[in-house]
Amino acid sequence: MANLVVIGTQWGDEGKGKIVDLLSAKADTIVRFQGGHNAGHTLVIGQNVFKLSLLPSGIIRENKSTVIGNGVVLDPWKLVEEINLVRSKEISIDPNRLIISENTPLILPFHKELDLFREKASGNKKIGTTGRGIGPAYEDKVGRRALRSGDLKEVETIKSRLRTLVDHHNILRRGYNAKLIDEESVFTEIMKIREEIIEYIGPVWQFLNSQIKDGKNLLFEGAQGSMLDVDFGTYPFVTSSSTLAGAASTGTGVSHNKIQSVLGITKAYTTRVGKGPMPTELFDEVGQLLSQIGKEKGTVTGRDRRCGWFDAPLVKRSCVINGVTGIALTKIDVLDRLEKIKICVGYRTEETIFNEFPLSSDVAETIEPIYEEMDGWNCNTSGMKRLSQLPEEARKYVERIEKFLETKVNLISTGPERDETILLEDPFI
Ligand code: GDP
Ligand code: IMO
Ligand code: MG
Repeated sequence: MANLVVIGTQWGDEGKGKIVDLLSAKADTIVRFQGGHNAGHTLVIGQNVFKLSLLPSGIIRENKSTVIGNGVVLDPWKLVEEINLVRSKEISIDPNRLIISENTPLILPFHKELDLFREKASGNKKIGTTGRGIGPAYEDKVGRRALRSGDLKEVETIKSRLRTLVDHHNILRRGYNAKLIDEESVFTEIMKIREEIIEYIGPVWQFLNSQIKDGKNLLFEGAQGSMLDVDFGTYPFVTSSSTLAGAASTGTGVSHNKIQSVLGITKAYTTRVGKGPMPTELFDEVGQLLSQIGKEKGTVTGRDRRCGWFDAPLVKRSCVINGVTGIALTKIDVLDRLEKIKICVGYRTEETIFNEFPLSSDVAETIEPIYEEMDGWNCNTSGMKRLSQLPEEARKYVERIEKFLETKVNLISTGPERDETILLEDPFI
C-alpha cells in the first residue's frame, strides 16, 4: 500500500495532468480532492489529447477507479459534458469507475454569474478568475447554505436547500440591482441533470478507507498550485480552495497519516495566469520564447500565461508547507534554446533583502528578484528518457534546483507524452 499526493508547487499548470496520468499506471484509484473545473489538465496520449477539468486524470485508463471528493466544488452540467467527451473517445465511464462524494458542494448557474459579475465590477482590481463560479460556490459552502451532491437524492431536500440559497443570492442581487434568480427554472434544470449524475454519488470516505484496508494504491490529484492556495498563496490573487497536500485529507476523509508521499510538480521555469505578483516575470524576448516553446496558453480560458525564470524560494516554501518528498521537474525541454538561464534565489527592494517569498502581495509587488546565472545547454532534450542523455549543463541545472530546495528530483519531464520522462526514483514509496 502506498498513497501519494500530487500537488503543484507554483501557480498551477506545472504539468500535473501528464504526471498523474503517468503515475496512474501504478495506482488503483485516482482522486480529485479540491478545486473544480477551474483546473485544466492536459494529457497527450499519441494522437489523443484530453483536456480534463473535473474528472480525475486516471479516468482515461479503463481499469482504474476514480473519485471526486468533498473538497471539490462540482458543476454537474460540466461533469456530464466531460463524461460525454471522454466517452466520445471510446472510453467507458460507469458508477464502478467514478464515485462522487455525497458531501461535495454543487456549483449552480448563479455562482458563475456572480463570479463574472464581480470580476466585471472590480475594474482594475479584478482577480482574473476563470469565471467558473468557483469562489462563490466555496463561499456558500463555508456559509453553510450549499446544495450538496447527496441532497440530490431527495426532491424535498433539493427544494428547501435551493430556497435558502436563492433567497441569499437574491438579497445580493437586489443590492447589485441585478435580475433576480428564477428559482423554479433552476429547480427544473437541477431535476434534469440529477438524473444523469445520481448513480455516481456515494460514500467516498468509506470507499477510500476500505481501499486502504485492502492494500490498494491511492493517487490524489491536486489542482492549481500552492501559490494559488487561499491561505498561503498571493492573497487575494488566489483561488478559493486549499490547494496544499493537507487538503487531500480534509477533501476526502482519508486521514493524513495514511498518506506517505507528496510529489511536488514543478515547472523548470515559472508561469502564472490571471492577476497578482510574479517577481520573475519576463517582458522581453526570453519571456516570449518560453511562452511560445512552452505553448503557454491557459487550458481553461485560453489566456496567455505570464512567463518568467524559475523562482526557487517560492518553490522552497511550497516544499515545506506541503511536506514534499520528491519533485517532478517538468518542461525542462522548453529551456533548450537558451544560452544563459537564470534562477531567482532571493528578492530585494532598495532597503531590504528577502530570503523568503513575502506573504503580503503588496510587498511581493515591490520586490525584485536576485538571480544566479547558469549556462544553458543549447541542444535538444525533448523526449529524453535517461539521465545519461541529458547534457551536463541541464544536469547541473537540476542539481542546483535540488540543492536549493533540499529536495530530491524524482522525475524529469522532457515532453508532453507519458514516456517523455526520465524516472530517477519511484515517487510511490
Ligand atoms: P496542469 O494544469 O498542471 O495539469 O498543466 P497543464 O496541462 O495546464 O499545462 C501543462 C502543459 O504542458 C500541457 O499542455 C502539457 O501537455 C504540457 N507538458 C507537460 N509536461 C511537459 C514537458 O515536460 N515538456 C513539454 N514541452 N510540455 C509538457
Ligand atoms: P490547474 O489545475 C492556473 C487561477 C485563475 C485566477 C485565480 C482564481 O490547471 O493548474 P478561480 O477561477 O479559481 O477563482 O481563479 O486562480 N487559476 C489557475 N491558474 N491553473 C489552474 O488550474 C488554475 N485554477 C485557477 O487564473 O488567477
Ligand atoms: Mg492547467
